[in-house]
Amino acid sequence: MSRLIYVLNGPNLNLLGKRQPQIYGHETLADVEADCRKAAAEYKLDLRFHQSNREYEIIDWVHEARETAGGIAINPAAFSHTSVAILDALNTCEFPVIEVHISNIHKREAFRHHSFVSSRADGVIAGFGTQGYRLAVMRLARLIDEKHASA
Ligand code: DQA
Repeated sequence: MSRLIYVLNGPNLNLLGKRQPQIYGHETLADVEADCRKAAAEYKLDLRFHQSNREYEIIDWVHEARETAGGIAINPAAFSHTSVAILDALNTCEFPVIEVHISNIHKREAFRHHSFVSSRADGVIAGFGTQGYRLAVMRLARLIDEKHASA
C-alpha cells in the first residue's frame, strides 16, 4: 500500500486564522500544512495538501488519490453538510478516510450536526482545533502500517 496521503480542505479554509478565530483559532492553513508535513515526515509518509472552494476540485483530488494514495484526511468544511458528490467520490476509494473538523460540529448549529462524509469515514475528529489534522495523519500512518503488516 502506498505511503502517500492526501490532506484535503474545503471552502473558506483558505481564510483560516482570519475567519472567525473565536471558532477556528489563529493558525493559518499554511501553519496547518507545515504541521501535517512534520507529522508525515515523522511517520515516513508522503503528503499532498490541497484546499479548494470548488466542489469539483475536491472530487478530482479524491479521484487522483484513489489511483495513487494510501489514505485521505479531509476537512470538507461546509460541503460536509451538503455534498453527496464528495461522499460518492470517497466511496470509490478502498483506503482509509479520516474526516476532520476543527470545531466540534455537534456543539454548533443543528445544520452542522449531519455530515454526509461521516457515513464513509473510518474515523471522525471534531473539536480538537487545528491539532485534529496532526491526529488524522497519525491515525492514517497507523492504519497504513497495519495494512502493510497484514499483507
Ligand atoms: C468545519 C465545520 C463546518 O461546519 C464549517 O462549514 C467549516 C469548517 C470545521 O473545520 O470545524 O467550514 O468543517
